[in-house]
Amino acid sequence: MASAKIAMQPDEFGDFQTPDALAAHACMILCMRGIIPTSVLEPTCGVGNFLLAALDHFPKLTTGFGIDINDEYICRVKERLRSCSYADKVKVLRESFFKVDWADILRELPEPILVVGNPPWVTNSTLGVLGSSNLPKKSNFQNYIGLEAVTGKSNFDISEWMLIKLLEMLGGRRATLAMLCKTAVARKVLVHAWKNNISLTDAEIHQIDAAASFGAAVDACLLVCCLSPTSHNPDCRVYSHLGDAEPAATIGYHDGQLVADVSSYERWKHLGGEGVYKWRSGVKHDCSKVMELRKEGNRYRNGFDEVIELEDDYVYPMLKSSDITNRCSKEPTRWMLVTQKAVGDETSVIRIVAPKTWEYLQKQGGLLDRRASSIYRNRPRFSVFGVGDYTFAPWKVAISGFYKKLHFATVGPFAEKPVVLDDTSYFVSCQSEEEARFIAGLLNSQPAREFFSAFVFWDAKRPITIEMLRRLDLSALAYELGSEETLAKFQAKKRKEQPHRQPELF
Ligand SMILES: C[S@@+](CC[C@H](N)C(=O)[O-])C[C@H]1O[C@@H](n2cnc3c(N)ncnc32)[C@H](O)[C@@H]1O
Repeated sequence: MASAKIAMQPDEFGDFQTPDALAAHACMILCMRGIIPTSVLEPTCGVGNFLLAALDHFPKLTTGFGIDINDEYICRVKERLRSCSYADKVKVLRESFFKVDWADILRELPEPILVVGNPPWVTNSTLGVLGSSNLPKKSNFQNYIGLEAVTGKSNFDISEWMLIKLLEMLGGRRATLAMLCKTAVARKVLVHAWKNNISLTDAEIHQIDAAASFGAAVDACLLVCCLSPTSHNPDCRVYSHLGDAEPAATIGYHDGQLVADVSSYERWKHLGGEGVYKWRSGVKHDCSKVMELRKEGNRYRNGFDEVIELEDDYVYPMLKSSDITNRCSKEPTRWMLVTQKAVGDETSVIRIVAPKTWEYLQKQGGLLDRRASSIYRNRPRFSVFGVGDYTFAPWKVAISGFYKKLHFATVGPFAEKPVVLDDTSYFVSCQSEEEARFIAGLLNSQPAREFFSAFVFWDAKRPITIEMLRRLDLSALAYELGSEETLAKFQAKKRKEQPHRQPELF
């Protein structure tokens, strides 16, 4: 019997053989759902635990197929099959997923088809680090181009690519795809299917205990997608544990967006839309050791433990995202060097306005020049991003992207300066404490929480995203709460004050 590894190690084959008990449990759940396949395919079958479990659980199977890149594993499957009564129904093949002619293989499989298994647990960036070529041929996968490629969104799980490929090949057939994968991958695969009209009739996510089965600290699940040539269903039931009788939630693809809770979305979607208050990210500088400082008397200490003297002009009190996760924001203990008032501003002026700051930046220039992100290329030296008038607004209503709770905090000035936030936080800017407290009250209200909870996936690395925050129309929310007049008063002021700057990249 294959055993699970102790911890998730980088491995170019993403090799975590599924324990027999888990493979059997997954097949039992499919049986209970009334899935009666005639053929079964395990595309990266390893030692064949899923393949054999399926052959044990589905007596109507006439055909089985297992494929893996690993020669030893294929030999092991053949050996295991020798003692099975159904050995003559099963073919096994040593081949890479990326070289297989899937159309050819699937054409031979009688319907209904069950594609089952556990694709490799590895990302393209890990493969890059390992210098491995266990990758699909270069493709513009998920249209990760331009900005997304620059900001690293182009990192994807190999299993995501494989599952999408399989669903595309199964489109229009009577088939079920049942695969273990990261829960975040399952959602991406579903969104792809829903967006591209791959005819899913039903979908389920059953969360599994990946730590117990694979020694891996990831949110993982059994993703079940039922396909048929005719109907299309944009919803997916989510079960908290494998085998739960009732789903904990239903996610879906509604009005062109992924929804985390379909019933909350249906109840509160009238609060959606754009408003006058715009959500912003904090300042992005990618060099905390140079740009984030602790104050010591009249001087500052940087991340290299160097004590330096700086003029006041470019230094602002700052809160990290962890500082605003508590009920009230803490008093800032750090300061941030913010070299520009708006994206693209000339920085050479610092030499005249604040010579000590200029000298410090010159000294640390090598580090700032080596910032990996290409957003800094062809920009004034020492540039930062996520800056505009909003950065320097005296009051803010803020939330951390990493926070596992929906709570919005007010952030006021400190030491007679506006407090700036780092780029893991999001905020709307306000001109007064009264305005900030009013907006925070709206955002912390029950309807707002329920609206946002329709979009939050709490297992995501950053559950709170700026896209999600931007979906709420504060005017509609204020109307819901009977506060529209107070909001209108603040909005009128805001419209007058809003400058017309060039749109920002970040
Ligand atoms: C997570 S393990 C799962 C194995 C098996 N499906 C199970 O559930 O026990 C992933 C498997 O994918 C195989 N694999 C990795 N890259 C592959 C590729 N390019 N083509 C085919 N198999 C591959 C590995 O050898 C490994 O057996």
